[in-house]
Amino acid sequence: MKWKFILFVVLAGVLLAAAWWLLAGEGSAAAARARMVKEQLQARDISDPRVLAAMGKVPRERFVPAWLAPFAYADQALPIGQGQTISQPYIVALMSQWAEVRPGDKVLEVGTGSGYQAAVLAELTDRVFTIELIPELARQAQATLRELGYARVQVRTGDGYAGWPEEAPFAAILVTAAAPQVPPALSAQLLEGGRLVIPLGRPGGLQYLKKYRKVKGELREEGSLPVRFVPLVKPGE
Ligand SMILES: C[S@@+](CC[C@H](N)C(=O)[O-])C[C@H]1O[C@@H](n2cnc3c(N)ncnc32)[C@H](O)[C@@H]1O
Repeated sequence: MKWKFILFVVLAGVLLAAAWWLLAGEGSAAAARARMVKEQLQARDISDPRVLAAMGKVPRERFVPAWLAPFAYADQALPIGQGQTISQPYIVALMSQWAEVRPGDKVLEVGTGSGYQAAVLAELTDRVFTIELIPELARQAQATLRELGYARVQVRTGDGYAGWPEEAPFAAILVTAAAPQVPPALSAQLLEGGRLVIPLGRPGGLQYLKKYRKVKGELREEGSLPVRFVPLVKPGE
């Protein structure tokens, strides 16, 4: 009996939140977004004004399943289907800040997922390339990006371990799934002085988000933060 009551309360909560969200509409999304920027980003260590502006502009609620839209600005990752997630807003902002994207930079994202991180990057430069392993997610992300006016983001279905050799070199590469170590193709496709932001570690184990800069052909570590990401899958393994 007790679990039925708990289920009822949870469902009622979700329905009430969804109803409130639908009735309040765009205005409430904008207010929630502004609050997220202030309370989750500025209150921590996100200080790059271009990243803050991008996070304040991209409608995150459009990148999550409709039933999760009321929770789009919560301080957490959310499911997007296919067993994958859209990262916590703070992590998206931190990765963007660490990538130091300037206008005109060519940027590669590995792990398109919902397309949200790609949209944030597209606010920072008009040359964004993103690779997703799961075709359904790549298709959905491309459709969302087009609908929202980010049609210049190039989405490819494929294995991000190989990077995007035809478009290399990149000024910044962001990997949004955890790998055991830096994939050699990605470090090879980074420009001298370029930034690589990547979570390293085993699934379910200790993982660290790393920031590297390529200096004289070698990756120099410049930042590290404990995190939890889904794994960067090696097709065929
Ligand atoms: C945490 S999610 C990415 C979130 C995404 N950046 C967003 O803004 O919604 C990680 C993504 O990496 C993808 N992925 C896993 N292994 C991959 C691989 N080898 N190549 C490309 N994408 C991969 C997963 O399918 C998943 O969509």
